[in-house]
Amino acid sequence: MLRKSFLAALAATALAVGTLPAAAQETVKIGIITPLTGPFASTGKQHETAARLYMQQHGTTVAGKKIELIIRDDAGRAENTARIASELIQNDKVSFIAGFGLTPLAMATAPIATNAKVPMIVMMAGTSIITERSPYIVRTSFTLGQSAVIIADWAAKNKVKKVVTLVTDYAPGHDAEKSFVDQFKSKGGEIVESIRVPIQNPDYAPFLQRVLDAKPDALYVFVPSGQGSILMKQYVERGLDKSGIRLIGTGDITDDDILNGFGDAAIGVITAHMYSTAHPSAMNKEYVAAFKKLNPSLRPNFASVGAYDGMHLIYEALKKTNGKTDGDALIAAMKGLKWESPRGPISIDPETRDIVQTIYIRKVEKKDGELYNVEFESFPDVKDPVKAAKK
Ligand code: PHB
Repeated sequence: MLRKSFLAALAATALAVGTLPAAAQETVKIGIITPLTGPFASTGKQHETAARLYMQQHGTTVAGKKIELIIRDDAGRAENTARIASELIQNDKVSFIAGFGLTPLAMATAPIATNAKVPMIVMMAGTSIITERSPYIVRTSFTLGQSAVIIADWAAKNKVKKVVTLVTDYAPGHDAEKSFVDQFKSKGGEIVESIRVPIQNPDYAPFLQRVLDAKPDALYVFVPSGQGSILMKQYVERGLDKSGIRLIGTGDITDDDILNGFGDAAIGVITAHMYSTAHPSAMNKEYVAAFKKLNPSLRPNFASVGAYDGMHLIYEALKKTNGKTDGDALIAAMKGLKWESPRGPISIDPETRDIVQTIYIRKVEKKDGELYNVEFESFPDVKDPVKAAKK
C-alpha cells in the first residue's frame, strides 16, 4: 500500500513537472544575427528597426504562441555569426535564425542550420549560391543577378556601348559583375575593363583614375550597402561627375540610408533594385512613416524590407503549421508564399526557396531637399538569373 501511494505521488509529481516544459514551449523564439557594430552597422540597425516594427504592427502572438525576438550583433564577422547561431539554437532554443548582413556570414552559418534543422532566413546577403548551401535556407532579400541583368538591358537600350565594371572583390561582387557582363555583351555591348576592389578599407581613387583614362560611356558599380559613401566622395574628387561618364549600378550604390550624404553629384545616377524609400505604393508610404517614427535617425533602405518581409514569412509559416516549430514543416509552409511587401509584390520560389520580385529602374532625383531613387520602369516576377541559367 505504502509503495503504491509512493508511486502514485511520484507519478503526480512527474505529471506536474511534465506540464512545465509544455508551458515553456508556448514561446517561439526568433534569433536575428546581424552587424550592429563595425563597417556594416547600418544593415543591423535597419534589420532591428524593421523587425521590431513588424512585431509592433502585427502583434506578439501567432497561432497561440508568444513570439520572442532575440537580436545579436556579429559585427560583420563570420566566426561570430556561426558561434552566435550555435548558441541561439543550443542555449536559447530558438526556432528560427535570421539576419545575415553579408554573404560570408550566411555561408558560415548554413551548415549549422542544416545540422539543427532550423529555418535560416537570409534578410540581406545576396550571392546566388547561398540558398543552395542548406535546404533550411529561405531568402527574403534579393540576388545581385536580379538587378544586374535589368540594368545591363537598360544600358544596352540607352546608347551605352562601352562599360568599365567596378565591383567589391567577394562573392556578391563576382555575381554582380558576371550577370552584368554576360547580359550586356549578349546585347552587343563592350566591356572595356573589369575592376575588383578589396572589401577591407577600400580606396577607389586609383581605380577611378583608370576609369577616367579608359573613357567608357558608363561606369557600372556594385559595392555592398554602406560602402557607397567613400566611392561617391572619391568619384567627385576625381572629377568623374563632370567627365560625361555615366554612373550606373545595382541599387546597393545609391542605398537610401546614405544617399542623402552624397550631395548633388548623385543626381541622375541610374540603378536597378528591388526597393526604394520613394516606392509610391500606399503600403510603402505607411511603412516609411512608421519606420521613421520608430527610429527617427534612419530612412528605411533595402536591408529593412529584407527583415520586415522575413518576419512576415516567419509569422505566415507559423500560422500554416498551427504554431508547430518543426523545421521541415516550417520550410514546406514557406515555399510558394506570396504577399505584398513595401517593395511591391513578392513570393518565395517553391523550387529554390529564393525570392521572386519586381525589379525597378530608378534615377536619383532631389525632392523637397532630399535625394531619392525615383522608380520609372518596372519588371515583375524576376527570379534569380544565375539559378535559372543552371537549369
Ligand atoms: C552580401 O554580402 O551578400 C551583400 C551585402 C550588401 C549588399 C549586397 C550584398 O548591399
